Formats: sequence, structure tokens, C-alpha cells
Amino acid sequence: MRKQIAAANWKMNLTYQQAENLIDDLLALPHNLNNNQQVIFGVPFPYLTMVVDKLKGKRNVFVAAQNCYTKMNGAYTGETSIEMLQSIDVNHIIIGHSERREYFNESNEMLAAKVDLCLANNATPIFCCGEPLSVRETNEQDTFVAKQLKESLFHLIAEQIVKVVIAYEPIWAIGTGKTATSQQAQDIQAFIRNEIAKQYSNDIANEISILYGGSVKAANAKEIFGMPDVDGGLVGGASLVATEFNAIINALS
Ligand code: PGA
Repeated sequence: MRKQIAAANWKMNLTYQQAENLIDDLLALPHNLNNNQQVIFGVPFPYLTMVVDKLKGKRNVFVAAQNCYTKMNGAYTGETSIEMLQSIDVNHIIIGHSERREYFNESNEMLAAKVDLCLANNATPIFCCGEPLSVRETNEQDTFVAKQLKESLFHLIAEQIVKVVIAYEPIWAIGTGKTATSQQAQDIQAFIRNEIAKQYSNDIANEISILYGGSVKAANAKEIFGMPDVDGGLVGGASLVATEFNAIINALS
């Protein structure tokens, strides 16, 4: 059975002290994860070690980096490698968030290389895809997302793709307060699963967790997560507030 996941994406927010407080506040709140549910914290690089330490020994809770470079080590000033992340027990990495695609020119091809590097090192890529508003307005989102999947994921063999977590995030819904309706999320996520089934098999498609991201909050999480092809969420703004994110975690059940 595929995993249900509540993933936080703190982006470039919070000071060290605020980050520490947020984790402490969250840990003090009641949540109950069953074996099939996971929580993942995508936190800024300088806070990874602190968050890893605080979450040590917690069942089904993981820490993710928000990016990594395509090389293992070397003269790449300012970059962080997967080897470095794994040496501090970080084995999940958000790959290809739309903000990285937009502001740092990350292409589908570059993201394919990052996904490969994650999988070659037994790390879990949380691969983001999703269309901008202009594409949604002309109803071409399926074609747009299919191209992202094809160019960054579909070179993988079946044993590899089952290890990828996919996050569908329509760019027009990120940070805008304008959530996709639960039906819009369901429709395109069913499409994504069907593309995977066509490329691999139904069994493979049914094993992959597909998260929805874009203005998920406590008030809408339950309805969105209740859709058959939505296996949880990747949450930005609402993950910065302990009570909000805790309610989102609890909406998994
Ligand atoms: P948001 O961000 O929840 O603030 O819309 C989601 C994301 O970018 O992952």
C-alpha cells in the first residue's frame, strides 16, 4: 500500500531560534502516525542537523533538504552534495520545486540528473511538477505535466521509479491562497498515475505516493487528502505554524 505523507517545505523562512521553537511546539502537540503514514520536514540547510537531532528516534518522521547539486563533490562553491546530506542522516530531498525551476533555471534534464543521483545513493527524491497559470488557462496542464514526467522520470526503471515521491504543485496555487479544488487535484493526479501506469504498470503506479501542494492548510487538508489519488501534501506557508501543520498531519487519517 502506498504511503500517505505530510511534507513541510519551510523554504527560505525562519531564524534558527524560530525553527527550533517550531519543531519543539510541533512535538508537544498530539499526533498519531500509523505505519503507512509519514511526516517529512523540508528545512533550510543550516537547520538540517538541528532538526535531525530533535527528531531522532521518531517513527516515520524524516528530514529533507530542499535541493542538492548534481555532483558528488568538488569545486562547486556554494553547492551541497548528496554525500554531505547523507553524512548528516538526511536521506530525503525535494527536487525540482517550481521556485527552483523559475529562479534558478533548473531544467527537466538537470532534474533528471538529480533524481538519478538520489536513487543511486538510496535517497528519496520528492519530485515536484506542476503547471503555471497560463497553461492552466488554456487547459493544457496534462500535456505540460506529462512532459515534466517524461523528461525527468521516465528514463528510470520500474525498481527505481517506485522509490520516487511525486508532488503535484500547480504554480498558480503556491503561496497564493488560491488552492486547486479537490476535484482539480484529483483529476490531474489521476492523470499522473495513469501516465505512470502506461509507462510501467498499474501495480507500479499504485505504489507511488503522489502529493498535492499549493495553499494546503488545516481547513482544506482533509478534503484534498480524501481524494483517491491524493496521498498527502507538500505544504509551504501552513507548515510554518505548529498548530496548522499538526492539523494537516492529523488530516492524513
Ligand atoms: P504553499 O507552498 O503551501 O505556501 O502554497 C507549497 C509549496 O511551494 O510547496
